[in-house]
Amino acid sequence: MLQFILNNKEIITALAPGMTLLDFIRYQKNLRGTKIGCREGDCGACTVLSGEIKNNELIYSSVTCCLMALGNAHGKHIVTVEGINTVGLTTVQQAFSDEGATQCGFCTPGFVVSLTGFCLSKAEPSYDGAIDAINGNICRCTGYKSIERAAVFINDQLQNRNVNEDPLRFAVTNNIIPSYFLDIQERLAKIPALPWQATIPQKKLGGGTDLYVQQHDTMEHQSLDFLFDRENLNGIAQVGNSCEMGASVTATDIAGSAIFKKHFKGLKKHIKLISSTQIRNMATVAGNLSNASPIGDFTIFFLALDAKLLLNDGEHQRMIGLREFYKGYKLLNKTAEEIIEKISFNLPDEKDLFNFEKVCKRTNLDIASVNSAICLKMENDMIVEAGLSAGGVGPVPAYLSKASDFLAGKRISAELITDVICVAQTEIIPISDVRGTESYKRLLLGQLIKAHFIEMFPSLPLEKILIA
Ligand SMILES: Cc1cc2nc3c(=O)[nH]c(=O)nc-3n(C[C@H](O)[C@H](O)[C@H](O)COP(=O)(O)OP(=O)(O)OC[C@H]3O[C@@H](n4cnc5c(N)ncnc54)[C@H](O)[C@@H]3O)c2cc1C
Ligand code: FES
Ligand code: FES
Repeated sequence: MLQFILNNKEIITALAPGMTLLDFIRYQKNLRGTKIGCREGDCGACTVLSGEIKNNELIYSSVTCCLMALGNAHGKHIVTVEGINTVGLTTVQQAFSDEGATQCGFCTPGFVVSLTGFCLSKAEPSYDGAIDAINGNICRCTGYKSIERAAVFINDQLQNRNVNEDPLRFAVTNNIIPSYFLDIQERLAKIPALPWQATIPQKKLGGGTDLYVQQHDTMEHQSLDFLFDRENLNGIAQVGNSCEMGASVTATDIAGSAIFKKHFKGLKKHIKLISSTQIRNMATVAGNLSNASPIGDFTIFFLALDAKLLLNDGEHQRMIGLREFYKGYKLLNKTAEEIIEKISFNLPDEKDLFNFEKVCKRTNLDIASVNSAICLKMENDMIVEAGLSAGGVGPVPAYLSKASDFLAGKRISAELITDVICVAQTEIIPISDVRGTESYKRLLLGQLIKAHFIEMFPSLPLEKILIA
């Protein structure tokens, strides 16, 4: 039986754990404030909050429930717009009304839930944070300026919160959420963990952000192996100079990790290029690697870092390099029974340089036309070792071994960069498709390699030479 709290009510259900949380909310519980737009995670109309206890703290994150399995709600507090406004308009709703931030109103519950989630975050409130909170919500009526004004107003309200004040208490006192939220942690703690019984064969499910888009119609009836909340598949740790991550670590976990922040100076910028806040809260690294999309952003990121995967089929474990994981289009060096358990890689040290670049048709919330990552081990201006990867330039996410080897042992110069682009061109096989023609993708890869070096060596006059 699945057990969770929906708004202020305890839920115990034997319904199919593969059903979407959206269908449960709307059609089983008749809570129609949560809207259906795209059912693909793109519009944010179905945004709800998911609260869970992590390290003894109740943490809320926004999720698009059209892509969330009911089974992934177990042990959590799911909050729809009906669970926020129990009496009259909340402060967030009032701000939307005062600023004229709603017209047809279809998108409004999603925006309100996302901004309410922003108010519950322990992060220091900022204007950028408020805008990030709604970067997965689309409105086709208002033109966004009025929504931005509402976000500014909410952020201004949060500036009155003392540094050590509990965001939940502040939110209750300021009519952002109802007072029942204050008992939720105690109520959640009483829900036992789910003893998932593995009956083979089962489809492995992480956050569901790929599977529910690709196989929406069949997911409800599949036998699923729920990996998202498994304790042994979560957590990010540093062991010596190596980083070890559980397979179900999400993009949001990475963005908040002190280890990643210390070793990847451009992390904030890189993570912002990946999907939206709601999707990042659900999207796991192992899901990205296993989906085997030739343009998976984390895949490209970790290929450059020469990450290793620990695979487990329930009886045996084996370690393989991510660079040996892709055998052909969507073909993995992995059996159906094996799951990715852990991902590990050597952390770049102070002398090393790392960069990630991505070109999409749209700046935000889009998958890449071409993406690329690079990691350089440096000794003064000499490259000792290089790892260069690229997506969208062949049937599998590509580690560019020839170009990487070519860079090793060379000093940085504009000629070197021009030469390595030529080498990279010999080992890619892009095709023309909706994301661009073959020649455009070749051009993009060249431009991204230039961008890597301009970004990594800001003190060198590379920009002028390379762009001239
Ligand atoms: C709106 C939207 C925007 C997106 N934007 C981006 C983007 O900008 N960049 C990007 O790269 N991707 C993007 N994605 C794709 C997706 O979010 C990512 O690929 C995500 O990391 C998938 O993880 P998941 O946990 O949701 O995978 P799931 O859907 O749960 O699973 C994906 C695949 O991985 C398998 N799997 C999951 N966990 C394991 C495991 N531990 N071991 C073995 N197999 C496993 C599943 O069986 C399945 O085959 C986007 C998706 C949506 C809906
Ligand atoms: S319905 Fe569009 S994101 Fe869920
Ligand atoms: S108010 Fe109509 S879609 Fe946003």
